[in-house]
Amino acid sequence: MTKSKGKHFIKTFGCQMNVYDSERMGEALAEAGYVSTDTPETADLVILNTCHIREKAAEKVYSELGRLKQIKIAREELGQGTTIAVAGCVAQAEGREILSRAPVVDLVVGPQSYHRLGDLITRTGSERGGIIDIDFPEDDKFKHLPVRTAGARAPSAFLTVQEGCDKFCTFCVVPYTRGVEYSRPVDEIVEEALRLVKAGVSEITLLGQNVNAYHGDDASGAPRSLAELLRALAEIPELQRLRYTTSHPRDMSDDLIALHGDEEKLMPYLHLPFQAGSDRILAAMNRKHTRAEYQQLVQRIRGARPDIALSTDIIVGFPGETDEEFARTMEVVKEVEFAQAYSFKYSPRPGTPASAMDDQVPEEVKSSRLQQLQAVLKTQQEAFNQSCVGRKFSVLMERPGRRAGQLVGRSPYLQAVHADGDQSLIGRMIEVEIISAGPNSLEADIVETANSAVIAAE
Ligand code: SAH
Ligand code: SF4
Ligand code: F3S
Repeated sequence: MTKSKGKHFIKTFGCQMNVYDSERMGEALAEAGYVSTDTPETADLVILNTCHIREKAAEKVYSELGRLKQIKIAREELGQGTTIAVAGCVAQAEGREILSRAPVVDLVVGPQSYHRLGDLITRTGSERGGIIDIDFPEDDKFKHLPVRTAGARAPSAFLTVQEGCDKFCTFCVVPYTRGVEYSRPVDEIVEEALRLVKAGVSEITLLGQNVNAYHGDDASGAPRSLAELLRALAEIPELQRLRYTTSHPRDMSDDLIALHGDEEKLMPYLHLPFQAGSDRILAAMNRKHTRAEYQQLVQRIRGARPDIALSTDIIVGFPGETDEEFARTMEVVKEVEFAQAYSFKYSPRPGTPASAMDDQVPEEVKSSRLQQLQAVLKTQQEAFNQSCVGRKFSVLMERPGRRAGQLVGRSPYLQAVHADGDQSLIGRMIEVEIISAGPNSLEADIVETANSAVIAAE
């Protein structure tokens, strides 16, 4: 065992990819001799894993750093040191600027340098001034991070298979913060999945900024598609469920669509952002598809898997968006009927082409459009949830609920499902009947545990 170096606290903002990275950083720190703690006040090392996607997300980091400064001062009075690191997409985008705006920061580390975290932290102890590592190294960080630990973990896990993005939508910072598109090799992913399964995981969500552009090499060096990767993973017997996110409409290939009809382990849920309904806005966003193409795609996907739950991302108030153009967005929403959706006011991001466009839409207009849009999306989500009442689902029980004796799991359609049951059912696939639906979750009765136990043990 390595000697204890102290306690670490990691706070995660942003997307699932950051959640995954934080987990891997935690594992790397454990190997370097750190243990985790639940509060920054008790931590010798605090890492903020940050998000740069919208202004609000990026600004949160600085208010957080203000709070951490107070904690650092209070700990100093007790003779305790605190190392403060900023990781993630704000680190990558702002680099040195973070050190000048918040001198309390000891280390700025970009998403492609996490395998060097241990060394970087050691250097903060001996070098004056903050340390910055925001290179895009040639080397794959995944290969150099410690292998996933076998300790007990939640039944559902994320697994990053693809990082970066070459699409350059004009509103988006991701190509700048995460770099060019990179796919991990098939064998590396299968090996990681096997480790997760061994540790009790039965559902894996494959992650990528553009996950369906996946084209990782197999053992012979031939590129494999996301559908082929999913098929390989579906062969792991203990792995019961597979999901993937986020997909770009342009990269929904025929084999991937067909897989939704063929592969039982692939869950009937798809997050497929469409961003805007007007073809002029879609072109200005550089989304590389039209409204009609998106709608045809939805039809093809529903042809393969009629009950699929569709989710999406929508931006309102992109520069130049008129009332008529916004009305096109509302039309798409009404035509497609989403089970779930995320919607945002356009936020100008430094260095992106859209931030320099004329005709930025006034804040009040964006707010009113967002309100209209969210009202419709809420109705659709409620209607979808309501349509599930009376149906029987397999639910993967993930954790205890807030109430004693309550369990929380996920339906095949990714809805949160609450049911009363014994804690020993956590980690198992349980048959339930949906008895009522709220806006964000379902209530269920467990109908069969004996059978489900057999299924889980097979
Ligand atoms: N790769 C994914 C999206 C990743 S970012 C895709 O292409 O669909 C997640 C979502 O944040 C985007 O889908 C978009 O809706 C939103 N988003 C990104 N940049 C934004 C900006 N500048 N302002 C508002 N929303 C933004
Ligand atoms: Fe951003 Fe577009 Fe890439 Fe998605 S596809 S990460 S929105 S640039
Ligand atoms: Fe945010 Fe970076 Fe993810 S900008 S959304 S944390 S890729």
